[in-house]
Amino acid sequence: MSAPSPSPAQPAFSPALEPQEGAGAATDLFRRAFGVEPDGVWYAPGRVNIIGEHTDYNGGLALPIALPHRAYLALRRRQDRTIRLVSSRDAQAIEVLDLDAIGPKGTSGEVTQWASYIAGVAWSLEREGFTGLPGFDAALVSCVPLGGGLSSSAALECSAAVAIDEAAGLGLAGPVQQPDDAGRARLVGVCVRTENEMAGAPTGGMDQSASLRCREGHALELDCRDGSVEHVPFDLASQGLALLVIDTRAEHSLTDGQYGARREACEEAARILGVDLLADLDPQDLDEALERLRRSAGQDGGPDPERAEVLVRRVRHVVTEIARTRELVALLQEADALSGESLAAVGALMDASHESLRVDYECTGPELDTAVEAARAAGAHGARMTGGGFGGSAIALVDAEAVPEVARAVARAYATAGFHPPAFLNAVPSAPAGRLA
Ligand code: GLA
Repeated sequence: MSAPSPSPAQPAFSPALEPQEGAGAATDLFRRAFGVEPDGVWYAPGRVNIIGEHTDYNGGLALPIALPHRAYLALRRRQDRTIRLVSSRDAQAIEVLDLDAIGPKGTSGEVTQWASYIAGVAWSLEREGFTGLPGFDAALVSCVPLGGGLSSSAALECSAAVAIDEAAGLGLAGPVQQPDDAGRARLVGVCVRTENEMAGAPTGGMDQSASLRCREGHALELDCRDGSVEHVPFDLASQGLALLVIDTRAEHSLTDGQYGARREACEEAARILGVDLLADLDPQDLDEALERLRRSAGQDGGPDPERAEVLVRRVRHVVTEIARTRELVALLQEADALSGESLAAVGALMDASHESLRVDYECTGPELDTAVEAARAAGAHGARMTGGGFGGSAIALVDAEAVPEVARAVARAYATAGFHPPAFLNAVPSAPAGRLA
């Protein structure tokens, strides 16, 4: 029997596979495709970011959590340098690649689509000095919604990273109960290289850091200047709260030029302002920096006045967003975090983040704005887009008991606006990438 199609009265929730279910499905797929047992099953989660958007490539702060929605990868080491991949989305098609022949996007060795995120990790590991890796066979089952802005691609990369790490005996990640954070930080670099070079998406490292370095029950305060992390308690359930994810189902892509254009604008502004990264700007001096940007218009080699105003908006978002992230982390560290005034303040920071992304960074869109407005009107404490934007997902901090009503309100607003029905999921701060026992 097929599932009933979602309606405003019955919004569709995307459940996470139970770990044993995910591992079982990946193992079955592996057996059917390759006729032998895998060496093991590894997994890596998708993420949502609570605040700190478009700050990672500017050296700023982000605050993601790992989702219970994960990519599961059953993998078996080979004796040669062949890579064979199969996914549950097309169990009949086995992709066969040669580790000596694959290469970056735009070269003759280009690997397309999802296979690039897995095979690309082996390629990147070798470029980072881990040469002579064995080939492998692997079967993928993922319940991270595809293209939902929840880092479905980072989940693939990170599942491949922990699997290859162990299968090839590199010893970087450590077991999930006792993770080796320094080793995982190296794997983050490998996965970001895969995303940038093999898939051609000029992203920062927030998604891969979340997938490899988060902790269950915690948010990850990630300082992208030096890669350092703090684990901030984020126990919503004990406060009667929930983080509702609204997948707008609106198309978004990290390779369509919009994301890259935002990143280039930040780099251009940093050059004009004489800083390495925008995170180096002191929020106290923001007005003065924005004035300098305006004054650079028309100067030799400077932007034209219209472009200067674009740069002003981009810089204002990045600098204020880093400050908001710092403030939200401080609130979470208070004893009465997530109740009373502190909860209201957290919600207000989330709302302000969305406004800044909408007005100054110009990376929201009608579906994201509608989701956020409808969630707030239905009683959310705060709501904002999460991830790269232009589509993808929004998050709303809500009372746990209000989840169904807020979801229905958003679904109704979508029906009224004539948008595709949104999908929903419950974001519980979960464990990072690892191996299933
Ligand atoms: C995407 C990218 C991240 C980050 C966010 C915006 O998720 O992959 O590196 O830049 O957008 O915060």
